[in-house]
Amino acid sequence: LNMHTALETLPKSELHLHIEGSLEPELALELADRNGVSLPYDSLADLREQYQFTNLQSFLDLYYELMGTLKTADDFRDLALAYFKKVSAQGVKHAEIFFDPQVHVSNGLDVNMVMDGLLEGMHEAKARYGITSGLILSIVRDMPVDTAQSVLDSVKNRADDILGIGLDSAEVGYPPHLFTKQFEEATALGWHRVAHAGEEGPASYVIDALDNLHAERIDHGIHSVTDATLLERLASERIPLTTCPLSNRRLQVVGSLENLPLHNMMEQGVLINVNSDDPAYFGGYIADNYQALEGVGFTLSELSNMAENSITASFISDVERDALL
Ligand code: ADE
Ligand code: ZN
Repeated sequence: LNMHTALETLPKSELHLHIEGSLEPELALELADRNGVSLPYDSLADLREQYQFTNLQSFLDLYYELMGTLKTADDFRDLALAYFKKVSAQGVKHAEIFFDPQVHVSNGLDVNMVMDGLLEGMHEAKARYGITSGLILSIVRDMPVDTAQSVLDSVKNRADDILGIGLDSAEVGYPPHLFTKQFEEATALGWHRVAHAGEEGPASYVIDALDNLHAERIDHGIHSVTDATLLERLASERIPLTTCPLSNRRLQVVGSLENLPLHNMMEQGVLINVNSDDPAYFGGYIADNYQALEGVGFTLSELSNMAENSITASFISDVERDALL
């Protein structure tokens, strides 16, 4: 068994995946055509030229624009199924996937329709590929707080269809505590709590997410490395970081993969797992992220450890988890 195959077959969970970030350019153009949405790109080649990012915002601009091609429940089902089909060949047994309802609502869609489509795809993925999954409703932090509150209000009556609440989008200037009330309400609904922090923002945003949102996992969290006390806390409170190597490189959070502080944080006892973030935008799905780390010297034993961490860090029941480990 060569290393490449070994990394594809390692049983793993994906815990940091924006389902809209799995929208491949081919599907975006097909949906634009099907739904009569006009995009300012003449061809696939023209669209592909746009995938050169200098920071988080330069990516988000394209990501939100292409999200506008998603219109029907079938579109969302097809999007989810395309993702699950890809990762079914990459060892994924379980996935906890983000969606950005405020953006869909601002595009005129009904959040319940969006969820129905995604849940149908997730249900079908269980039947076809045996992959279990859950939905994380992610707050888009640079949209008005009342739009976040209003999607929460719209889905409260079907709280069991949602696994957790998250926090994403442009980070700097939008500290976690702005959403304390929404995270409290989510907790009361029985949802888990995660938040993007320390991707472009500072370590203090990670602390903010822990103190004020009571986040159980931190998405990215890479800038925690600048605060030794925080690293100790992440280790002792067993707060996993869902890291995304190819994303960090493509968004220039790090200059090169060698500069990712993962070894450093692992040595401090922080639980690190590996994810794709927005695979259609960053040049690879989850196994490609493991392979990229292998390319900069991570050993099979370290990578297996991270795969095991991804299962430990998931929100599935102990019984389901034990079956995967
Ligand atoms: N939305 C989709 N991908 C994201 C990322 N990497 N950071 C923040 N928000 C996002
Ligand atoms: Zn993300």
